[in-house]
Amino acid sequence: MTRTPVNVTVTGAAGQIGYALLFRIASGQLLGPDVPVALRLLEIPQGLKAAEGTAMELDDCAFPLLRGIDISDDPNVAFEGANVALLVGARPRTKGMERGDLLEANGGIFKPQGKAINDHAADDIKVLVVGNPANTNALIAQAAAPDVPAERFTAMTRLDHNRALSQLAKKTGVQVSEIKKLTIWGNHSATQYPDVFHAEVAGKNAAEVVNDEQWLADTFIPTVAKRGAAIIEARGASSAASAANAAIDHVHTWVNGTDTGDWTSAGVVSDGSYGVPEGLISSFPVTAKDGRFEIVQGLDINEFSRTRIDTSVQELEEEREAVRGLGLI
Ligand code: NAD
Ligand code: LMR
Repeated sequence: MTRTPVNVTVTGAAGQIGYALLFRIASGQLLGPDVPVALRLLEIPQGLKAAEGTAMELDDCAFPLLRGIDISDDPNVAFEGANVALLVGARPRTKGMERGDLLEANGGIFKPQGKAINDHAADDIKVLVVGNPANTNALIAQAAAPDVPAERFTAMTRLDHNRALSQLAKKTGVQVSEIKKLTIWGNHSATQYPDVFHAEVAGKNAAEVVNDEQWLADTFIPTVAKRGAAIIEARGASSAASAANAAIDHVHTWVNGTDTGDWTSAGVVSDGSYGVPEGLISSFPVTAKDGRFEIVQGLDINEFSRTRIDTSVQELEEEREAVRGLGLI
């Protein structure tokens, strides 16, 4: 194979998501079975030794697509020539915390990383922010990278999307593959809004198939929105393999496109669609084609949805004000 490897930078490489992510990237699941990858791992100094151990294990897998592993604690080195950057490294919340409580602790990580991306990444850089609070961290990184098109900064709500698919499949008794056009709107937080009103279950409108607004309001929405906390309660640690899986799904879709007749959810820079203030990184229904996400246009938003979207978007605006106050944007 003579193709030039794609440089994939992963921050927080020695963390639990990193461990669930790196082997899948190296095996070709992120970009495709014929795309060679070179890994750039970024860690803080205390994480370097563990990252080296993970690199030894990656070597021991003898992945045919893996064309090199570099490890650094310097963002300027780790983002050099990066084509894809997965910003995972951040402190996870623990029991009793909301993701927004991490704003100050983690916000400071994303400004220097955004600048390093601005100064060193490849022209086609695509950034996915996983570290929480993901939407606002993505905004911080994006604001620090004025030379990179804003649309290249995205935040992960694909885990929420996958959680919603799974809950809806259970309720309606179909396979997840029979559910299309589900949407997560807003923030990756407890205010997010999983919307089934445009979704299809085996070709029929999902809201009509469910036909139970109380289940939507009292069971489905809170189960999806509070799933992160439920995982922390059950595992004693935040979701890791499912988060890594969603990161793989997000980038794979971004690079390889969505299926005809379907869409997915991603935190992308708002262009003002659906009344979401321009510039916020909010989750929308998106399609992907030719390496670009596009917000699905023209959906009717009913009152049930409108109030919930507005609540989550208002929280994003408050987070934006908070990081402005901290001098992070
Ligand atoms: P973890 O504590 O296991 O690992 C985090 C790693 O990041 C550690 O190895 C740490 O040393 C490293 N790190 C910290 N600061 C860094 C920096 N400045 N540069 C590089 N590396 C740095 O945590 P985890 O479970 O892997 O979770 C990581 C983040 O992902 C958390 O913020 C968590 O809340 C978030 N998360 C998001 C989603 C989502 O759906 N968006 C889902 C799950 C977890
Ligand atoms: C999740 O949704 O599982 C992650 O964002 C971790 C968390 O803090 O909920």
